[in-house]
Amino acid sequence: MGGAGSNLAALLERGVGVELVVSHRAGVGALAIARAHRVPAAVLLPSRYPSREAYGEALRQAFDDAAIDAVAMAGFLRWLDAETVQAYRGRIFNVHPSLLPAFPGLHAIRQALAYGVRWTGVTVHLVDEGQDTGPVVAQEPVPVEPADTEESLAARIHAVEHRLYGDVLQAFERQRFFVSGRRAIWRP
Ligand code: GRF
Repeated sequence: MGGAGSNLAALLERGVGVELVVSHRAGVGALAIARAHRVPAAVLLPSRYPSREAYGEALRQAFDDAAIDAVAMAGFLRWLDAETVQAYRGRIFNVHPSLLPAFPGLHAIRQALAYGVRWTGVTVHLVDEGQDTGPVVAQEPVPVEPADTEESLAARIHAVEHRLYGDVLQAFERQRFFVSGRRAIWRP
């Protein structure tokens, strides 16, 4: 689930099993990448549904039809409803371009630059009902260089996202960690 699809491309290159790509917008890069890899893809436009709950029902139907084990979001978060979060609790992942709980929500990279932090980074977390509030599974810091622009910092952050998200999803496939309360416990 995403937009430009750079995380999707990285996951496919890593060999993470992707059964279905869902986009909330038509014509985005993720859909072309899915086509190129012959992965089934669906566009579910929120505007076509009367409520967030109805949209969630369509999402769950698509997930059930594809018999997925987990959901990996990249730029999709605000479209999930509580029932879908509950149905897939512990199996919905998101990648966020900051060290949460710093700079949640949109424009995390811009927020970090505006604040003047020396370090920001990437968080892969499980999704709960809040915005970027679920248990952290993995984090990696990224330095902010004095000459950084939003573009240069984003490029370094995205490179880390592409590696860390694949690490976590492959670890999930191999049951290398479990979550207890708010903590991800990694097996040695
Ligand atoms: C990523 O930067 C992610 O951190 C944010 O949305 C972006 C999706 O990018 N949540 P892409 O579609 O994977 O290129």
